[in-house]
Amino acid sequence: MSQTMKKVLVEQFGGIEQLKLVDQPLPQPGPGQVRVKLTSIGMNHADLMARRGEYRIASGDPPFTPGLEGGGVIEAVGPQVGDRAVGQRVILSPDAPRLAASGGEKSGLGGGTYRTHYLCPAAQTMLAPPAIPDDQLGALWLPYLTAWGCLVWKQNLKPGQIVALPAASSSVALAAAQIARALGAKTIGLTTSPQKRDTIMALPSCAFDQIITTRESDGADRPWYKDLKAATDGRGVDVFFDPVAAGAYLDSEIRCLAPHGTVWVYGLLGKPGVVNVTPLIRLHAAIRGWAVAEIVAAGPQAFAPACRAILDGFADGRFKQELGGRYPLAEVGRAHEEMERGRHIGKLVLIP
Ligand SMILES: NC(=O)c1ccc[n+]([C@@H]2O[C@H](COP(=O)([O-])OP(=O)(O)OC[C@H]3O[C@@H](n4cnc5c(N)ncnc54)[C@H](OP(=O)(O)O)[C@@H]3O)[C@@H](O)[C@H]2O)c1
Repeated sequence: MSQTMKKVLVEQFGGIEQLKLVDQPLPQPGPGQVRVKLTSIGMNHADLMARRGEYRIASGDPPFTPGLEGGGVIEAVGPQVGDRAVGQRVILSPDAPRLAASGGEKSGLGGGTYRTHYLCPAAQTMLAPPAIPDDQLGALWLPYLTAWGCLVWKQNLKPGQIVALPAASSSVALAAAQIARALGAKTIGLTTSPQKRDTIMALPSCAFDQIITTRESDGADRPWYKDLKAATDGRGVDVFFDPVAAGAYLDSEIRCLAPHGTVWVYGLLGKPGVVNVTPLIRLHAAIRGWAVAEIVAAGPQAFAPACRAILDGFADGRFKQELGGRYPLAEVGRAHEEMERGRHIGKLVLIP
């Protein structure tokens, strides 16, 4: 009797009702391949966008399996897999998942990671240090590599510089604060509510020196740029690492920039609106875009050292990830709903 595995399939773009759990034959590893039994699948906003049809550049047309990261335990190996062996705890390398390939997958190789088992080349797995628990093996790269790639690889952040991190409760900002602090920078978070600020500051893994709230308790916007400027003793912020970055929010950031400062835009959660770019001229400042895809596309010579540095940070305790929720893979619809609500703090994961 042939064995089966489960995966999530989006058959049409749309709401959470489009996330179907289906069976498929368990793929057998060929030469140079391993089969990983996933213990953790990181969830990302990109997964919601892919389901809705807002991320076609990655998903292509349905059917496809969502999911950009995963990790677990090697369950089967083909011939010629080097030092990979059954039982090793591994993280799929950032270039392993390819959503668009998954709809028409025939061999079971690759595809999105919302599945119980993942077949990939042995070279696309990285050994995990014991410090990373099983439920986080698939939740590292989107937070940590996104932050590392921008702050270290692109920005070359220096000790003593001031970094502002909007959406402080997000998995990316929490990771970015740890990375920036490890580099000796001053870290200021921005979050939407006083309750979230207090909860984040109380986390043992919190690496923000300070967090400023951007809304009043009743949800109304407040002029937070004054607090932020004051927190820098009037000098301004050297680096914004920002997924909100639109309209009034971006306008406030520009007002808070230090000379030669940079706003890195890596998401657009904010409401579009008019922005005054005049201060950029006086400050010799810049607004730049960032996507983790840039360091992944640059190949293993660019992303492998970054991944190693991140794993070393976990191994020696400088980095520690906060999970905001764990959901069984079978409850993927509820997990998407929770992510859409945005009440969580930290990374959401699916557990197969
Ligand atoms: N460019 C890239 O390569 C890349 C890679 C990964 C993620 N991203 C982007 O990074 C963002 C965060 O991702 P994540 O997975 O870390 O998300 P997440 O953990 O779900 O965090 C979402 C947080 O963003 C903030 N937020 C949401 N809507 C907002 C709005 N309208 N205005 C202000 N703040 C808002 C809230 O934080 P507070 O309440 O704390 O403000 C919310 O809790 C997403 O936009 C995602 O697409 C981009």
